[in-house]
This record gives sequence, C-alpha cells and structure tokens, in this order.
Amino acid sequence: MRHSFFKMKSYLALLSSFAFPLYLAPMEGVTDAVFRRMCKRQSADFLISEFISSDALLRNVSQSLRKMDFDDNERPFGVQIFGYNEETLSLAAQKAEEYHPDFIDINWGCPVKKVVSKGAGSGILQDIPKMIRLTRAVVESVSLPVTVKTRLGWDETNKPIVEVAERLQDIGIAAITVHGRTRAQQYGGVADWELIGCVKANPRLTIPVIGNGDVNSGEKALEMKNRYGVDGIMVGRAAIGNPWIFQEIRNAINGQSFSPPDYAERVETCLRQMEETALVKGERRAVLEMRLHYGGYFKGIPNFKERKVKLMKAETVRECGRILGSLQVNERTG
Ligand SMILES: Cc1cc2nc3c(=O)[nH]c(=O)nc-3n(C[C@H](O)[C@H](O)[C@H](O)COP(=O)(O)O)c2cc1C
Repeated sequence: MRHSFFKMKSYLALLSSFAFPLYLAPMEGVTDAVFRRMCKRQSADFLISEFISSDALLRNVSQSLRKMDFDDNERPFGVQIFGYNEETLSLAAQKAEEYHPDFIDINWGCPVKKVVSKGAGSGILQDIPKMIRLTRAVVESVSLPVTVKTRLGWDETNKPIVEVAERLQDIGIAAITVHGRTRAQQYGGVADWELIGCVKANPRLTIPVIGNGDVNSGEKALEMKNRYGVDGIMVGRAAIGNPWIFQEIRNAINGQSFSPPDYAERVETCLRQMEETALVKGERRAVLEMRLHYGGYFKGIPNFKERKVKLMKAETVRECGRILGSLQVNERTG
C-alpha cells in the first residue's frame, strides 16, 4: 500500500501542473501520435494511446508495439491496455512500462462485442470481483501509477460505479475516468453526468475523477466542471477533425472568448495531419484514416458536401490537397 501511495502522489504531481486538466480520450483508429500532437498543440493536457491488446503486446505484434510510440512533447502520456487474464494483463503492463509512459491506463469500458465476449473492456462490469482482482494485479506489477477508464455499469439495472470507484481506489489506482454510459448504451443515448457527479461527491473517494461523455463545446465543459466538480474532463468524438476543441474549452474555463479557426486554417491543419500520417503509416492508410476526420474539420462550411464526396473517393494526398486547396481558393475569392 505504501508503494501505491507513492504512485498516487506521482500522478497527483502530474495533475497539479495543470489548473484544470483536459484529456484527449483514447480512440482506436483515431488518436495516433500525429493526432495526439495536434491536440496537444491546441491545449490538450493528458494524452493516452489507442487501446492495446495485452495478448498482442506479449506476442510482439508490431502494430501494437507501435501504438506505444510517443515523444516527450506528449507528456503526460499514458499507455492504455486491455485484456481479461491476470497474468497477461500484468505482463503487458510491465512491457508497457519499459516504454516509459507516465502512467498505465486499463480499459474497462470498451463495448465492442469481440472484446466484451472475452470478459475484457466493459465485459468485466459483469464480474466486479474479477475487475478488482485483475486491476490489483496490474497495480502491483508496475511501479508507474495505474489509472482505470470505465463506464457506469453493464446496463440500466446495473450501475455500480460509485462502489466500483471506491473499491478500485482501495486497491491502489491513481485516478478513474468515468464515461457516463453503460455498456448496453454503447455510444447511444445521453451520457449521465449526474452519476459521474455522484462518484465525485462520494466523501470516501479521494482519487481524481475524470468525467467523460458528450462534451462537445467550451460551454458544456464549463457547465460539467462547475456542476459536478470533476477533477478533469476527457473529450473524445468532439475532437475528431477538431483539435481546437481543447482551446475552446480552455478559453471557456478561463472566461475568454474563442474564435473558431477560419477555413484556411482548417484546410492547412487537415492537410498537415494527412501528410504527417502518411510519413508514419504510408499514403494509402493516411488517406483512408483521414476520411474519419473530414466531418469535424469542415463542419458548418457551406456547400462542402460535394467536396466531401470527392474527398471520400480520393486516393492520394495530392488529390486531397487539390480538392481542399480549391476550397481555400474559393473561400478567399468568394
Ligand atoms: C472511434 C472510437 C474509438 C474509441 N476507442 C477507444 C479506446 O481505444 N479506448 C477507450 O478507452 N475508449 C475508446 N473509445 C471511447 C472514448 O474514449 C470515449 O470514452 C467515448 O467516445 C465517450 O466520449 P465522447 O462522448 O467525448 O466521445 C472510442 C470511441 C470512439 C468513437
């Protein structure tokens, strides 16, 4: 427990460098190093890898190992792992520790069937004693702080998050992120911040509580912060194609107005992301992956639909650049 105390202290020290920490949510297929750095430049504080299978990590699958690559500018940086077996998860955490992140995050929230059916991700929410046992094993196997990201519970009739958070604190986790949905909800419905607020309001809980779910504007973030008193906010989907969301939130918290990026800046940032991604993953993958981001980058731009159709079919960075470049020219002259 003494050991856990120092790990908690070291996580608190990380937190204390920020007035109110903003987290970029881990998102498989989205939050690679290129995108994380873009968000960091726009005022995101804590960054976390995409989730990594502990089995794959131990088999040295290169794609999984690559997910742990990060540079010092990304700190505080956490590696997120998932799994369903005590030994595998602990060994994977030790392996992740060799990459020197600032913390290890355990994913107990993924709702995807393939993950859940094995009892990993949010599947563990059907067996809380096992969740506690596996988490404890990870906490005891590494010297870095261990955090947990999870959901309210399994379904509407089973939302034990207040008690779960306390039990996880007792076995030594350093912080908890709560996504305000159940597994049954997947990504539907509305995130229940009232229950996140109950986790935070529990007088026996002293570890930081990070709230997550549906934060998509500075105004909303400020409201959640003030109403529920969480120690930080994590933003996922609203950051896709919109790394500026963090600056917008930061400004709202500081009582400052925010000027959204103009079209030229959006185009420049989008192309930069595409080019940097191509350097790391190759052109084909970069072009495919960027298709997820256009909706965010060009939301609200009049008459963009036609260009988006073209972008979704484009196969090279150059072609995308030409389509987006033409937008820039039109916007400047029109
Ligand atoms: C495309 C996508 C991929 C995701 N991948 C992960 C993941 O790897 N690990 C994780 O803990 N959560 C993952 N999530 C969940 C998010 O981290 C976050 O909890 C969820 O999207 C709710 O936050 P939001 O409403 O701000 O998007 C993913 C979500 C999306 C949309």
